[in-house]
Amino acid sequence: MKQILVTGGAGYIGSAAVKALVEKGYEVVVVDNLSKGVKELVDKKAKFYKVDLIDKEALDNVFQENEIDAVMHFAAYKAVGESMENAVKYSDNIKGTINLLDMMVKYNVNKIIYSSSAAVYGEPKYNPIDEKHPTEPCNYYGFTKLECESLIRWYGKVHDIDYVSLRYFNVAGDSGLGYIDPNALNIIPIIMEAATGKRDKLIIFGDDYDTRDGSCVRDYIDVNDLVRAHILALDINSSEIINLGTSDGTTVKELVKAATDIVGKEFNYEIGERRKGDPAKLVASNKKAKEILGWKPEKDIKDMLESTFKAYNKNL
Ligand code: UFG
Repeated sequence: MKQILVTGGAGYIGSAAVKALVEKGYEVVVVDNLSKGVKELVDKKAKFYKVDLIDKEALDNVFQENEIDAVMHFAAYKAVGESMENAVKYSDNIKGTINLLDMMVKYNVNKIIYSSSAAVYGEPKYNPIDEKHPTEPCNYYGFTKLECESLIRWYGKVHDIDYVSLRYFNVAGDSGLGYIDPNALNIIPIIMEAATGKRDKLIIFGDDYDTRDGSCVRDYIDVNDLVRAHILALDINSSEIINLGTSDGTTVKELVKAATDIVGKEFNYEIGERRKGDPAKLVASNKKAKEILGWKPEKDIKDMLESTFKAYNKNL
């Protein structure tokens, strides 16, 4: 397998994957509509197309001009809150995936690694969450991810395409490329903005949950560990759905404490209301990832905070 098409290759995770693939000696073709992605993050050795996956003709051209062996599909809109206000926009996640699968059939590409999410599980019925946990997404974003998983599974059956759908828990850390989210909605970028003076303060969304310190527990996984799992997934010969997390939970208050140590000074935060739709605890079982991919995470939450802080500091 030589040539890999990376959709969303200019984004936070996609650009990290492109870098890792290039370093491993793969030829990489990137498509990205640059709605959130940054072209400068795309490794210079990769071939870049500014294409939106809903533009089927443009996508056809990409497949025609290249000899693609496998696809890593990251491109998607991903803001949970926005997805509950604009289903029309988030339906493009589904339309784009159908177009991509159609092209894979047309050009006989028979392997896809898909960027799915723990959002497919919805409110957890138990922790740690394994892949057999029921899938009942509680936002439209999560629904689009689950729907795309189903489409991929069916195309896989009908057209003999191998797939690995990877359900990410909370991806964090800097890949080394210094991606700064221009409109930070996730906790670690928000903490870094508060710590570097880019925002007044962090608001902790509730501290009356049934957790060890009352704030929500999440499973943060380093972006480079995550990317490594995708590269391992290219080499397996079965179709799988696999969680990617560390199996280790961190509370929001623990994040604040660890970030204070790393930044070396206190920053402003206050306890606010709970955010609607936030489960108290989401932690992955990563047993399957270990067994099937031979993968295990190497970075812990301190490493993730450190690399993110470095990236934010550089950008001040
Ligand atoms: N949080 C705060 N204050 C903030 C922002 C977040 O206290 O200003 C808390 C949240 O309440 C939550 C934790 O920090 O407990 C993490 O919140 P994020 O918004 O960073 O992440 P989520 O867990 O809500 O969701 C993330 C991704 C989703 C993905 C999900 C899978 O954004 O796309 O992980 O676990 F589906």
